[in-house]
Amino acid sequence: MALISFAPHTGVWLLSTARTSYALRTDETGAPCHVAWGPRLTLAEAAELAVPLAPPASSFEGRPAVGEELPVDGGARYGVPSLQVRFADGSRAFEWQPAGHRLDESTPGTAELALDYRDRGYPLDVTLHYRVHEDSDVVERWTVLRNAGDQELTLPRADSAAWTLPALPGYRLSHVTGQWSAENTLHREPLPAGETVLGSRRGVTSHHANPWVMLDAGDATEEQGRVWSAALAWSGSWRITAQRTPDGRAGFTGGAGHDGASLPLAPGEEFTTPVMAGLFSDGGFGAAGRAWHAYTLAHVLPRPRETAPVLYNSWEATGFDVEPAAQAALAARAAALGVELYVVDDGWFGGRRHDRAGLGDWTPSPDRFPDGLGPLVREVHRLGMKFGLWVEPEMVNADSDLYREHPDWVLHVPGRTRTELRNQLVLNFARRDVADWAYGWLTRLVADHGIDFLKWDMNRAFSEAGWPERTGGADRVATGYVHHLYGVLDRLRADHPDLRIEACSGGGGRVDLGILARTDQAWTSDNTDAADRTRIQHGHTQIYPARTMAAWVTDVPNQLTGRTVPLRFRFHVAMAGLLGIGGDLSRWPEEELAEAAELVAEYKTVRHLVQHGVLHRPAGPGDDGPTVVQYVSPDAEETLLLAWRPPLPHGAPRRPVRLAGLTPGARYRDARTGAVHHTTVLTGYGLTLDLPPADWASTAVHLVRVPDGEVPAS
Ligand code: GLA
Repeated sequence: MALISFAPHTGVWLLSTARTSYALRTDETGAPCHVAWGPRLTLAEAAELAVPLAPPASSFEGRPAVGEELPVDGGARYGVPSLQVRFADGSRAFEWQPAGHRLDESTPGTAELALDYRDRGYPLDVTLHYRVHEDSDVVERWTVLRNAGDQELTLPRADSAAWTLPALPGYRLSHVTGQWSAENTLHREPLPAGETVLGSRRGVTSHHANPWVMLDAGDATEEQGRVWSAALAWSGSWRITAQRTPDGRAGFTGGAGHDGASLPLAPGEEFTTPVMAGLFSDGGFGAAGRAWHAYTLAHVLPRPRETAPVLYNSWEATGFDVEPAAQAALAARAAALGVELYVVDDGWFGGRRHDRAGLGDWTPSPDRFPDGLGPLVREVHRLGMKFGLWVEPEMVNADSDLYREHPDWVLHVPGRTRTELRNQLVLNFARRDVADWAYGWLTRLVADHGIDFLKWDMNRAFSEAGWPERTGGADRVATGYVHHLYGVLDRLRADHPDLRIEACSGGGGRVDLGILARTDQAWTSDNTDAADRTRIQHGHTQIYPARTMAAWVTDVPNQLTGRTVPLRFRFHVAMAGLLGIGGDLSRWPEEELAEAAELVAEYKTVRHLVQHGVLHRPAGPGDDGPTVVQYVSPDAEETLLLAWRPPLPHGAPRRPVRLAGLTPGARYRDARTGAVHHTTVLTGYGLTLDLPPADWASTAVHLVRVPDGEVPAS
């Protein structure tokens, strides 16, 4: 069946992915309304679900609060509006009038539908966009709003899309919350009646919530059940509002910006919302996660097929004391461990000796680097590693030459305090001159020094987010900022196709499908305590693939938590993502360096499974035993299991771990012990882990398929 088809007699549009269907139509009033989102349907079956709008049951009802593709503020509607508009003459509301459609099937494997509407009496055009891909069940949606008149109008709310769930006996919401160094705490809780708002007002995606939701009937597990989920590709403030209506239905709407903001639209101007992508899956939270991972690899990340190098980062070892000789010494030790990318963190530029000065002055500190960065870059390259550098282009310290020269470049509101957080102010990236300045020094820095990798940081939330030099600036900052941030990243990547970028915002404060479309990985959290990481990583991988999840092995006691866990455990946890090392190698004893080198070598033999394989989560961190993750190669020829044992009470049950995703009827050999296991046993009965009953014990088990013809040793 075509990816997108249309039944003229019923007016139903049917979007068909490999396992799911999404159907909609324009209803009798001209409004786009929802028909179905769930298991595969034919056009005839979808038509059966396209029931005409029932008249309101009483004069107090109006249209159902969920069930439209983009509920507007207008008419007899009382749910959460996805679109609100104010025209110059004071008129509000939007009245749908269909204005045609466009179907684009010119890209093989992809189909895109644009449904055009205009307001019946005012010059605002609204186009709903839908895109589906042959290789994914994800439906991408966004909205384009165009001022077709000659007077400015404003949009108090312009969501990307609204999503409607079928009638279910109950609804449960899964999402994450957190804070700095404690990102991604997973919640699964009944969706309360009324409106539940998730979001960020911080100007950035935030550590505190992440722009995705999953809804199920309350009966889904890791392996089974229907799950409806969505994620927003946006790196600024955002809002997703889920509703459970008095008549027992549920849906959610999401988009950029938070309440109180209002986007101006000048005559002729267009606003394209970010993409909000939705996914129905039947196979529990595990299958939903795997579908999101596959989608992110296939359609979001710029270079998903590359093998990410093992990196070393100097931050926890040296802090702001970046001295070339000490860096070169660390680099030599890192190279000896098998590290492939050496990253110099904060402290290499301007007057940056602490977090109170220097941000904005992006030239190597002359006292520390009298000959520039060149000698250190060359030394790192000579050691056979790539060279990476920390930057924080969106920020400035008040104590910097940049701020002394351009005090108007920061977000500010006249007459108000310029609130400093971490002693820094936010540069107004919505300004073209500021974005151009950042692009200019970044592209020169990369070109002049042969830099292979940037860790792009962003270390504070917005405050006084004004732009007084521009009329209506305060309302344009939030979206203009993110668009220019994306523009600088895109231009930089275009100039330097081999440059790789890590997204960082004090750890995981800006991880979303928008930033991941122009970076290669994310710094998951500033919390490098391996025990805490098992939970943070569990939350991260609900949506984002392990390929995006940078993880370092650092020193013990951990700088943040004071916890001490074995080196092996720290490695095994970091091996679940992109392995890096961030400890002070000058203090590691010889036996730890030797063990680390072995573990780095082991990671290199299995990283294709972590970075490009399929993730299963046989036991999550909340369970009463070890936490276990499993990665399977796409051809199911190999699998890797990582298991971490937290402190457990004596007598805690020891259960074999049932694996998934293996070839039926095959046998697999443990690469370390040589033991051979049958798929039937591994998947149906489980593998007994060779874990001693000690706190923080861990293991990595690599199983490789035995060729079919090989005779088993008896
Ligand atoms: C942020 C990052 C850290 C480190 C510091 C440097 O907190 O998340 O990894 O780069 O900034 O100042």
